[in-house]
Amino acid sequence: MTKLIDRFGRTVDYLRISITDRCDFRCVYCMAEDMTFLPRNQILSLEEIYILAKTFVELGVKKIRITGGEPLVRKGALELLQQIGGLNGLHELVITTNGSQLVGTAAILKAAKVKRLNISLDTLDAVKFKELTRTGNLQNVLNGIQTAKKEGFERIKLNAVVLKNRNHDEVCDLVQFAINNEIDISFIEEMPLGVVEKHNRAEAYYSSDEIRADLEKRFRLEKSPDKTGGPSDYFQIPKTKTRVGFISPHSHNFCSTCNRVRLTVEGRLLLCLGNEHSVDLKEMLRSPDFNAENLKQAIVNAMEIKPEKHEFNIQEQPVIFRYMNMTGG
Ligand code: GTP
Ligand code: 5AD
Ligand code: SF4
Repeated sequence: MTKLIDRFGRTVDYLRISITDRCDFRCVYCMAEDMTFLPRNQILSLEEIYILAKTFVELGVKKIRITGGEPLVRKGALELLQQIGGLNGLHELVITTNGSQLVGTAAILKAAKVKRLNISLDTLDAVKFKELTRTGNLQNVLNGIQTAKKEGFERIKLNAVVLKNRNHDEVCDLVQFAINNEIDISFIEEMPLGVVEKHNRAEAYYSSDEIRADLEKRFRLEKSPDKTGGPSDYFQIPKTKTRVGFISPHSHNFCSTCNRVRLTVEGRLLLCLGNEHSVDLKEMLRSPDFNAENLKQAIVNAMEIKPEKHEFNIQEQPVIFRYMNMTGG
């Protein structure tokens, strides 16, 4: 079988698909307050997303993560997940969500063979939650987490983007929350995608090492060999079911082990989160002389332009003008 291998010998077997750029939240590190979303004719239909997912699985992709914006706000998302979950050769269908819709959807996600859920949760304080998400409601998300737990997913992981002087003082409480709920948690260094208004990214930088030092005052962290195919480095908290992950794009670069590419809802195959190298797959899909073999070849060829590493620099104005909601992280 043809595999996806890039110029640096890295095998790509993980595809992240952003199925919408829309979201019911407006997190301060992800979006501008006043966002314009893509018009319908510019976004892939659910059928087109399915065709692309199937093609990637035929090219050796074993893990698909559905992202957004908020994936569960797209009409038809659950049916699409069910279809993708049934693809032969796919080992793992997973999703990253803000948790706002989980009360009504967790059971359907489980039925669609979604194995693991990553749920964003940056704070346990309702007022701060409103400040950070601008439009979100903490209680909805907490209820969503409880509903998801009852469904018995293989794993649930919380994601917390940590900003100095906004939520950095909550890292221990968030870990305690994860322990109480027998779930995992990853702390994420903020990445400079798009121009945000509410904070200065350099000033808000709080490194994974600082977080770890804060946590070690209250918990014992034992290095864990576990990997999920993503960039988290995990530590087990002994005698608990909780692992703490650190996603450290700035302080501990993980690009040399990159195994993933992204499909944006506009149908751009994006070869790296921190670069603009991409191939327009929507144009190919919609061309009158569409040919499945040519599509496959274009994806194989795209590996030639996968960059070696991201070029994030929080000290400077962002060079990536696309916001995080275009790629779902
Ligand atoms: P699993 O390991 O499968 O649980 O997933 P994950 O933690 O990689 O995925 P998730 O969607 O929860 O993303 C968590 C954070 O990791 C987000 O901030 C993503 O932007 C970031 N992330 C995931 N992949 C990459 C990557 O290739 N490069 C960079 N710089 N960040 C990434
Ligand atoms: N930097 C780092 N992580 C981000 N996320 C959203 N925007 C950013 C950013 N600028 C996170 C979300 C979600 C995951 C998909 O990416 O909190 O958990
Ligand atoms: Fe929405 Fe996720 Fe972006 Fe927050 S981080 S605005 S929840 S897409």
